[in-house]
Amino acid sequence: MRRTVLITGTSSGIGKAAVMAFHRHDWQVVATMRNPSRAADFGWPADILVERLDLNDPESIEAARAAAESRFGHVDALINNAGYGLTGAIETCTLEQVRDSFETNLFGTLAAIRAFLPGMRDRNRGVIVNVTSIGGRMTFPFYGYYSAAKYALEATSEGLWHDLYPSAVRVKVVEPGFTQTAFAETGLKMGTIDLPFYRERIQRLTERLKQGNTGTPPDVIAECIVRAAEDPSRRLRYHAGLYAGPLLALQRLLPGTWFMTLLRRNTEK
Ligand SMILES: NC(=O)c1ccc[n+]([C@@H]2O[C@H](COP(=O)([O-])OP(=O)(O)OC[C@H]3O[C@@H](n4cnc5c(N)ncnc54)[C@H](OP(=O)(O)O)[C@@H]3O)[C@@H](O)[C@H]2O)c1
Repeated sequence: MRRTVLITGTSSGIGKAAVMAFHRHDWQVVATMRNPSRAADFGWPADILVERLDLNDPESIEAARAAAESRFGHVDALINNAGYGLTGAIETCTLEQVRDSFETNLFGTLAAIRAFLPGMRDRNRGVIVNVTSIGGRMTFPFYGYYSAAKYALEATSEGLWHDLYPSAVRVKVVEPGFTQTAFAETGLKMGTIDLPFYRERIQRLTERLKQGNTGTPPDVIAECIVRAAEDPSRRLRYHAGLYAGPLLALQRLLPGTWFMTLLRRNTEK
């Protein structure tokens, strides 16, 4: 029997690539996004079900779940991919910006997990894949709040892994490194408080981001997400893409502040 996957944030980047990757691997796919009319231009096969899902709108999560179940019976895999970055110094982002970013990157994702988990527990089957980031394992300069939300999602995933141990429902975390998507151009919000102390360093970072994205193609991350979803083992973490493996290895080897100095020097060139 074909398995069904529901993916959040499929209007672009990794989520969009994941739709076709799962389809290629013979999954029935529910592609969700905030504005489903965008999918009209994607040329996706007609059997892909496109539904509206905004992580900040709990009713849309329920409606997408109901639509998926009505078409395919049940959902075997939930891919929590949707998210955005907040960049700036800890002092230059307003608390409202921080709350908004946690609302999407953490609380919205938790709402999606809570919508799909009861069905998976009842069937004693299923997998939840949370797309965090290499920034969920380490903090780059001016990404403190983004990392805070991704660390929280990593911790929640570990908690869920323990919770679900007696069942066959699996929990996976995919941690992409720098990936070639619209994330840096449209998926990133900047702190809106301008403070002279940070101005030049933040400007330099912003200019570097504008210089073009040379990261891993999103298809590579999408294949890693499929691999995680299809892995029957209890392995929790999968890192993917440029620099992720070497950075994690260096983090293990070097004393903490040496590693942070290395991250800072390489980011703030
Ligand atoms: N690109 C990287 O270098 C990188 C590295 C590590 C981790 N990641 C993570 O990978 C995931 C995908 O990012 P990406 O690189 O593919 O960036 P992207 O192209 O900007 O895609 C982000 C997706 O999330 C959606 N989204 C944002 N807020 C949402 C909300 N409230 N409800 C539902 N969908 C929402 C966006 O939808 P709209 O089109 O409606 O805005 C978009 O489809 C994110 O979780 C990101 O943190 C990315």
